[in-house]
Amino acid sequence: MIKYIGSKRRLVPVLGELLSRAGATTVVDMFTGTTRVAQEWKRRGAHVTAVDSARYSAVLAECYITTDANEVDLGELGLVISHLQSLPGTDGYVTETFSRQARYFQEPNARRIDAIRDAIEAGWSGHPWRPILLASLLQAADRVDSTTGLQMAYLKQWSPRSYQPLDLRVPELLAGSGSARHGDATEVVFGLSEVDLAYLDPPYNQHRYAGNYHVWETLMAWDSPEHYGVACKRKDLREEHTASVFNRRRQAPDAMAQMLGALQAEVVVVSASDEGWIGVDDLAGMVSGRGGVEVLAFDSRRYIGAQIGIHNSKGKKVGQVGRTSNTEYLILAGPAEKVARMVAGYPKL
Ligand SMILES: C[S@@+](CC[C@H](N)C(=O)[O-])C[C@H]1O[C@@H](n2cnc3c(N)ncnc32)[C@H](O)[C@@H]1O
Repeated sequence: MIKYIGSKRRLVPVLGELLSRAGATTVVDMFTGTTRVAQEWKRRGAHVTAVDSARYSAVLAECYITTDANEVDLGELGLVISHLQSLPGTDGYVTETFSRQARYFQEPNARRIDAIRDAIEAGWSGHPWRPILLASLLQAADRVDSTTGLQMAYLKQWSPRSYQPLDLRVPELLAGSGSARHGDATEVVFGLSEVDLAYLDPPYNQHRYAGNYHVWETLMAWDSPEHYGVACKRKDLREEHTASVFNRRRQAPDAMAQMLGALQAEVVVVSASDEGWIGVDDLAGMVSGRGGVEVLAFDSRRYIGAQIGIHNSKGKKVGQVGRTSNTEYLILAGPAEKVARMVAGYPKL
C-alpha cells in the first residue's frame, strides 16, 4: 500500500471491527485515499462504495474495490504483468521531469516507468484490467521513490530503496463486489444510495493531497502537464478549482455539516485529529441529530516527515521537525444502542 499522509493504517482493525459490530453490509468510504479501510470492509464481506477526488485513489479503488478477484484470470494477469515488467526503458515525461529535473526516481527506473505507462495507455485503455495494471505500476513506483512519503520535495541523497529495480507485482485483489466514485465528495454525496454505515476521513487542514502526491496524479492522468518549481508540480494545481473545500479553513466546517446532512446512512463514523481545523466537539454537534453519539480517542505516531524534517534539492531543511504524536478521534453517531454496542471496550474521549 502506498505511503500516504493521514492513512488510517493503525485504525484499520478498529474500523473493521466497528463494521462487524454494526452488522453493516453496505458502506461508503467517502475519502478513501489508499483504500485500506475500504479494503478491510470488503474483506469482511461488505459492499463498499469508495469515493475520492484524487485520480490515483480512484484507480486504487477500481483495482481493489470494484474488481472482483473471482472474475479475473490471475494466471493471465500474471503474464501481462511479467510482460510489462520485461519492457526496456524509454525516455519520456517521467524520466525528464521526475528523474533529471527533479530526483524522485533513479533514471533506469524512471525510464521503465515511462515504457510501462506508455504500454498501458496504448494497449489497455477501456479494458477492465487497466486500473489493476496502473495500481501495480503505482505501487511499484512507490517502493522505489526517493521521498519521505510526500512529493512536495525529494530527498537530498537518493533513498536506499531508490536503488532497487522497479518491481511490478500482481495486486492482491479481493473477492466480491464494490464500486468506486471519482469526484468531489460534497457533490458525490447527493447521488449515493442509502447505506448501513458511512465513514468520512477528509483532509484536516490546508495540505492538498493532489499537490502532495502530484507525481501519482500525473502518472495516472498521463497528460504531460506543464510544471513549476523544484518539485515539478503540475501547473493546474495552482488553479483554484483544483483545491478541495476541506483545505479552506473557513469553508470546511460548513461543507462538512452539509455533507453530513445529506448522507443517508444509519451509522456515521467521522475521523478527526487534535491537529485538525474542525474540532471534535463541533463534529459531534453536527451529528447529534442522528441519535447516540460516542467519541473514541487513539494516540498515534505522526507521519515520518514530521519526525525527520524535509529537505529541498539543495539539502536545506524546508520542513520543521514537528510533534511526533497526535490524537486521532473517531466520532460515531446513529441509533444509541447500536453505537453503544459498537464502541464497547474502546478508549473513549
Ligand atoms: C485523510 S485522507 C484519507 C485517508 C484514507 N482514509 C486512508 O486510510 O488511506 C483524505 C482524502 O480525501 C481526499 N479528498 C480531499 N478533498 C476531497 C473532496 N472534496 N472530495 C473527495 N475526496 C477528497 C484526498 O484525496 C485524500 O485521499
